[in-house]
Amino acid sequence: MSNTAQTTALVTGANKGLGYEAARRLGELGWKVFVGARDADRGRAAVGKLTADGLDAVLVPLDVTSDESVADALQVVAKHTDRLDVLINNAGAPGHAVHPGEATADELHAVYDANVYGPVRVTHAFLPLLQAAENPRVVMVSSAGGAFSVVLDPEQPVSNLHELAYSSSKAALNMITVRYAKALPNIKFNAVTPGETANHTFAATDMNNHKGQLTVTQGTDSIIRMATIGPDGPTGTFEDRLGPVDW
Ligand SMILES: NC(=O)c1ccc[n+]([C@@H]2O[C@H](COP(=O)([O-])OP(=O)(O)OC[C@H]3O[C@@H](n4cnc5c(N)ncnc54)[C@H](OP(=O)(O)O)[C@@H]3O)[C@@H](O)[C@H]2O)c1
Repeated sequence: MSNTAQTTALVTGANKGLGYEAARRLGELGWKVFVGARDADRGRAAVGKLTADGLDAVLVPLDVTSDESVADALQVVAKHTDRLDVLINNAGAPGHAVHPGEATADELHAVYDANVYGPVRVTHAFLPLLQAAENPRVVMVSSAGGAFSVVLDPEQPVSNLHELAYSSSKAALNMITVRYAKALPNIKFNAVTPGETANHTFAATDMNNHKGQLTVTQGTDSIIRMATIGPDGPTGTFEDRLGPVDW
């Protein structure tokens, strides 16, 4: 274990997409980045690219749906540091956009396991390391689809997407963020969405078959902003790259 002044961050689901880009951008700041990946080969490939670019990246095998995997991930991180400055709960599952008339509890359960229980599993396990940091921050990667303001706005395309699992999981994640923020004032918890909600745009990744209008760099602007807030920064907020989003 080393005890340096270097800022440390764990990003879940960091082998590709927004998680990889967030890890890359934080690495560019000189941070030590723990690259969470549920598939070791995909994780190794991502860490290989980051380290080839001179970044300080460490592979952390981590499936957020498994208590055992999360416990093992904590051991890996704890070998390198006695504190975690930033946790980015980014890993997420889209579900299958099943019509509410057809949706089953099993379908919801699988999506909630990744998008709701996952961030809780990881946050709970890493709380002691976060509490050991001077200005700990947790970023929850949510979605505009989890905002009542968006789903109830007929101008928003997502308001016509008939599904239960994904949007309700992100709505739950938003409330979980606020509840953590209120209960644990020494840690800053903020939810972000990668798109530009007002412009109905999102970031092109595998999750949306690259139909997004924004780059992954643009998509991670809100993540990086909340990962890098200072001691006077906000907690319990929901933002995109343009600013606050109505819940
Ligand atoms: N793209 C957007 O504009 C947009 C909009 C709103 C919200 N989001 C949110 O942004 C986050 C990142 O999504 P993305 O767009 O970057 O999608 P992506 O490219 O599909 O990346 C998703 C990441 O999550 C990982 N993952 C999935 N289930 C996991 C699990 N059980 N344990 C650990 N990792 C897991 C994936 O790993 P594998 O490679 O192993 O599958 C992958 O690394 C998600 O939470 C998503 O809901 C994205």
